[in-house]
Amino acid sequence: MAYSLLYVSKTLLEFPAGAAEVAKIIEGSLIRNASLGITGALMSTSNHFAQVLEGGRAAVEELMASINRDPRHMKVKIIRVTEEKRRFPDWALAYSGTAGLVDRHIAPLFSSLPVGDTAHLALRLLAIMEEFARLPSG
Ligand SMILES: Cc1cc2nc3c(=O)[nH]c(=O)nc-3n(C[C@H](O)[C@H](O)[C@H](O)COP(=O)(O)O)c2cc1C
Repeated sequence: MAYSLLYVSKTLLEFPAGAAEVAKIIEGSLIRNASLGITGALMSTSNHFAQVLEGGRAAVEELMASINRDPRHMKVKIIRVTEEKRRFPDWALAYSGTAGLVDRHIAPLFSSLPVGDTAHLALRLLAIMEEFARLPSG
């Protein structure tokens, strides 16, 4: 079982130029996440980020603290925290590209919704991220 956290945030990167910055984030993350025993997935769209981090609780919380401070995004909102089996066991970070269509699955999570609605939307977003992670890369 792993401590698993899903958050969404608003990107402060501007695209297409921001793609290079996302590449830098990924590059650093692959190394640091592996050293922390963290797996997960990051999705970047023209407006948002969504990320799953899973691993030991202390490691996930430590990493989340630096991500929270990162000036490349804002309005970081944790929408789901749970102990569960890793969804991305083979990935230090499954990057899903600038998935514009995914934006409409992320945007509603910023409004205050009844807990049940948030849980439902969070599970749908997770399913999409898992689907992307299964796609062959390249
Ligand atoms: C949306 C987003 C997701 C990030 N995800 C990770 C990650 O999974 N792992 C990681 O090491 N850094 C990630 N970063 C970068 C961290 O915020 C931070 O810059 C990096 O870990 C270096 O940390 P430090 O500045 O405290 O040394 C992410 C940044 C952003 C904006």
